[in-house]
Amino acid sequence: MEIITDPASMQKLSKSLLSAGETIGLVPTMGYLHEGHISLIKKARKDCSMVIVSIFINPIQFGPGEDYGTYPRDTQRDRSMAEKAGADYIFKPSVKDMYPDKFSTFVEVVGLDSIMCGAMRPGHFRGVCTVVIKLFNIIYPDRAYFGLKDYQQYLIIKKMVKDLELPVKVIGCPIVREKDGLAMSSRNKHLSASERKSASILYKNLLLAKEKINNGENNLIKLKKICEENIKASADVLKVDYFDFRESETLEEIGTLKPEAGKKQIKKLLIAGAVRVGKTRLIDNLILNISNF
Ligand code: PAJ
Repeated sequence: MEIITDPASMQKLSKSLLSAGETIGLVPTMGYLHEGHISLIKKARKDCSMVIVSIFINPIQFGPGEDYGTYPRDTQRDRSMAEKAGADYIFKPSVKDMYPDKFSTFVEVVGLDSIMCGAMRPGHFRGVCTVVIKLFNIIYPDRAYFGLKDYQQYLIIKKMVKDLELPVKVIGCPIVREKDGLAMSSRNKHLSASERKSASILYKNLLLAKEKINNGENNLIKLKKICEENIKASADVLKVDYFDFRESETLEEIGTLKPEAGKKQIKKLLIAGAVRVGKTRLIDNLILNISNF
């Protein structure tokens, strides 16, 4: 497996792969790979004849005071994990090559990018969209694989692809979890032993909300409060950024599941949260079919 660092060489290689009839699957990552990333690579391996994993800690998606400087890195480990999972190439450009002096073009998906994680991290999704469209323009993937752990990111990328007619199929892949339910994340490495124990509180409350809804609770404003209080009461939790109930495609906030006059009953409910455990920001979500309501 080869590591390519130069965007122009990557573009040339991708062009030649495509003209040789290969189908290219791209798995964009920021490295420090874990089983969540590996599941994406394996899925790409099944679907495509060539699998390219990009590793790039994208500075423009981090806000001031966020963890760009301390984001975990380990190229050797990433290389062997990606190779074992079946990747054909790693694309690992430098910041200078991706954002040369006077870089000034950005892509925004207006609206979806200013709620939930976007409300807490202004400019974050603009940074994500800009780097992802650059990766698409360098690698020409037929298919690109994204984890549903970053559900809002997945929706935003799908919207960008649709709105800009990008010739790539976006594939969403299920969340991979630790034994106690904590969603795998490169950032979990920063959790202390005690924080690690507390970290599964978010998933536990997603499950609690699901259970209550399945048992007939339809007041989601009340449920939101209960879950937020539960999470806040947990050791090491410094802040609940949000714990939201939303329609899974439009991200419209949903306060009640009681059918309302003149309103269509939603089919899929997204329950999503973001919490700060110590200094680490964790996100998670689940999607509930509510067709039985
Ligand atoms: P990163 O956090 O490295 O994640 C890369 C991909 O892996 C994303 O699509 C993410 O949703 C997926 N992923 C992470 N944890 C997962 C888990 N536990 N289960 C399933 N999939 C998981 O997301 C980014 O990088 C960046 O924003 C990027 C898209 C690369 C743009 O810079």
